[in-house]
Amino acid sequence: MAQWWSFRWQIVVVAIVLMVFLTNPGRSEPQTHLLLQTCSRFNATNTKIFFSNLNETFRDVRRKLSNSTYFTTSNLTTNSEPVYVMAQCRNYMSTSDCLGCFDYAASSIRACTTFNGARSVLDGCFLRYENSSFFDETTLIGYEGLCGNRTSSRQSAFETAVNGLLSNLSIATPKINGFYAAATTPVNGSNTTTAYAIAQCAETITPDGCRSCMQVAYANIRSCATNFIDGWAVDSGCFMRYSATGFFRNDQTTDIVPFLVDEKSSSQKGAIIGGVVGGVGGLILLLIAVLLWHRRSTRTTPGHSLFGATELQGPKYYNYSDLKKATRDFREENKLGEGGFGDVYKGTVKDGSIFAVKKLAIDSTTAKDHFESEVRVISNIHHRNLIRLLGCCSKGPELLLVLEYMANGSLEKYLYGEKRGTLNWKQRFDIIFGTARGLAYLHEQYNETIIHRDIKPSNILLDNDFQPKIADFGLARFIPEDQTHISTRFAGTLGYTAPEYAIHGQLSEKVDTYSFGIVVLEIVSGRRCTYIPDEAAGEQYLLEHAWNLYETRMQLKLVDETLDPTKYKEEDIKKVIEIALMCTQSPVSVRPTMSEVVKLLSDRSRVQNPPSRRNVNLSNKINSTSMSNAGTTITELSGR
Ligand SMILES: *[C@@H]1O[C@H](CO)[C@@H](O)[C@H](O)[C@H]1NC(C)=O
Ligand SMILES: *[C@@H]1O[C@H](CO)[C@@H](O)[C@H](O)[C@H]1NC(C)=O
Ligand SMILES: *[C@@H]1O[C@H](CO)[C@@H](O)[C@H](O)[C@H]1NC(C)=O
Ligand SMILES: *[C@@H]1O[C@H](CO)[C@@H](O)[C@H](O)[C@H]1NC(C)=O
Ligand SMILES: *[C@@H]1O[C@H](CO)[C@@H](O)[C@H](O)[C@H]1NC(C)=O
Ligand SMILES: *[C@@H]1O[C@H](CO)[C@@H](O)[C@H](O)[C@H]1NC(C)=O
Ligand SMILES: *[C@@H]1O[C@H](CO)[C@@H](O)[C@H](O)[C@H]1NC(C)=O
Ligand SMILES: *[C@@H]1O[C@H](CO)[C@@H](O)[C@H](O)[C@H]1NC(C)=O
Ligand SMILES: *[C@@H]1O[C@H](CO)[C@@H](O)[C@H](O)[C@H]1NC(C)=O
Repeated sequence: MAQWWSFRWQIVVVAIVLMVFLTNPGRSEPQTHLLLQTCSRFNATNTKIFFSNLNETFRDVRRKLSNSTYFTTSNLTTNSEPVYVMAQCRNYMSTSDCLGCFDYAASSIRACTTFNGARSVLDGCFLRYENSSFFDETTLIGYEGLCGNRTSSRQSAFETAVNGLLSNLSIATPKINGFYAAATTPVNGSNTTTAYAIAQCAETITPDGCRSCMQVAYANIRSCATNFIDGWAVDSGCFMRYSATGFFRNDQTTDIVPFLVDEKSSSQKGAIIGGVVGGVGGLILLLIAVLLWHRRSTRTTPGHSLFGATELQGPKYYNYSDLKKATRDFREENKLGEGGFGDVYKGTVKDGSIFAVKKLAIDSTTAKDHFESEVRVISNIHHRNLIRLLGCCSKGPELLLVLEYMANGSLEKYLYGEKRGTLNWKQRFDIIFGTARGLAYLHEQYNETIIHRDIKPSNILLDNDFQPKIADFGLARFIPEDQTHISTRFAGTLGYTAPEYAIHGQLSEKVDTYSFGIVVLEIVSGRRCTYIPDEAAGEQYLLEHAWNLYETRMQLKLVDETLDPTKYKEEDIKKVIEIALMCTQSPVSVRPTMSEVVKLLSDRSRVQNPPSRRNVNLSNKINSTSMSNAGTTITELSGR
């Protein structure tokens, strides 16, 4: 229904073009700072009927809002141009301000003329219509945090306070009747002394829907708090905002403490929404709106945006100084991770776009010759399960790659880190399936075969919908043939590395198939393949353990106990385990190709040739002595 919404470039373009006009400066403040407005790509067929329906549903919505409601929907479906409308004001708005904001949105959204869907999101309210019901939508891809550009003298203290506040709000809001909460928190030692924040969900979604929308919004908005004291997160079913400047009165906060105490208390939905009454400190808010408008409207210099229309073009060549500035001089706190090919930093530009910058840890003098042509090859790879290479910079002291940024981080975090146990079976299956598709594309569908060689959870990144995108593919291209040994980590991470490659350096696509099989076992079990078992206690390496269970038909014992057994079919998991084991067989000829894996995963039928342990080489396990001094790497075995 709303696929058009996923086109981020469209959002950026429209949002910038339509940025902010202020209405009625004489009245109290209806908070009409326009955050974004987008139109669908399809025209209504009969525009006369369409406009008449639109007008009628808008009138209905306005009538309901004038009766002290904050959220309402309306629909008119009796003729050929169905219209579904949703409108919502932030609960701190007075009825008259709410109506002022709605009127502003209703007039601004007319810019979408005959398009049969549109949305307009403002500070004080939002309005959306479509030609079919979207009232139960929670999250959609394509949303990112929107950041202001004001900073604090002690941003990290502010960030800590805001993160605590937003995290509390995202827990409390789904449990509160009306799905709205506003709260403040003091900030220690910064020139901004208080952080203000609100969170709100559409009232037509379920508490679970609100919860998952909050999680995504929280992940998006957090990325603003690292650098800025104003931030917004907009999604289909929810909204979040924080600021160092009060945008609601101090007596309009919600007591969220009762909703934080204990997850179980969610049944006591006593919902006490703090005094949400009319009247707003008009002048101050107007001033803020003017300032924001000024700042936002002055940042549209063409060609200056680091993001722009990169979705449509080849690689971009960035200035070293721009990237240095965007990553705040490659500061430690902007570091996202350390990969086999160098460290990755988060870059933020003024318009709020975020991207990842990889500092290639390779000798730039030897690699430079091929650098730009290799970048061109890789930046042509477009697949939904592969991280986009947006551009590069070869003019500075280091070679830099500019990559798509994934707010949810890597699978590693969700399997073993702070988010452990939060992925359900459906999400895990989607990750397995998407990863298989990404690899199949690299191996067989792109016009030259690209072998990844380092598939592991930390190289599988997750987008806002928890769909996987593989990172670091193709980077081996930057290293001259004869120098593949220069990076020890390049040899692959032992445990995920196929035995023939680890031991004999024999490289083929099936090396990735093997690693994929191991990663699938980890996803199913929540156990690391590199975990060194306590053999005295009867423990085994993950792969060995999986085979033993499979052969005794006890493979369900492998399943991560954080998974809710009512949420998956045993047959599905058994099949996935079977496919994973097939992938770990040797010799390579018995391992499936990745496109065969994709087919097996999408097929309803059972696996035809069950894997056999005869075909497995378990001698590849890590021995604890090499672990203790060499980490998980094997220096002398690399090569191709
Ligand atoms: C809604 O619009 C889309 C795109 O024009 C169209 O394909 C679809 O049939 C429409 N749905 C209804 C219920 O009219
Ligand atoms: C929609 O209608 C406008 C004019 O009303 C036209 O310019 C535009 O090309 C149409 N778009 C599509 C996708 O049909
Ligand atoms: C709908 O409302 C708009 C703006 O209020 C007005 O210009 C237009 O004539 C109305 N159209 C119909 C068909 O009622
Ligand atoms: C206004 O809201 C009240 C309760 O929320 C309801 O009883 C009343 O019918 C509404 N009035 C109108 C005109 O919608
Ligand atoms: C559309 O409106 C009718 C009557 O106002 C209502 O009964 C129905 O539930 C609405 N449909 C949706 C999807 O909200
Ligand atoms: C905010 O952005 C505007 C326009 O890009 C710029 O002129 C201004 O200096 C920025 N303010 C801060 C505090 O960075
Ligand atoms: C806080 O201090 C920083 C650095 O001293 C300054 O750039 C910023 O404008 C100040 N912010 C406010 C809101 O006063
Ligand atoms: C979040 O809630 C916890 C538990 O009630 C509380 O201790 C903490 O101070 C709150 N943090 C913020 C920033 O409000
Ligand atoms: C506030 O920050 C200072 C350092 O800037 C620290 O010494 C002090 O303990 C902090 N106070 C609180 C309550 O965290």
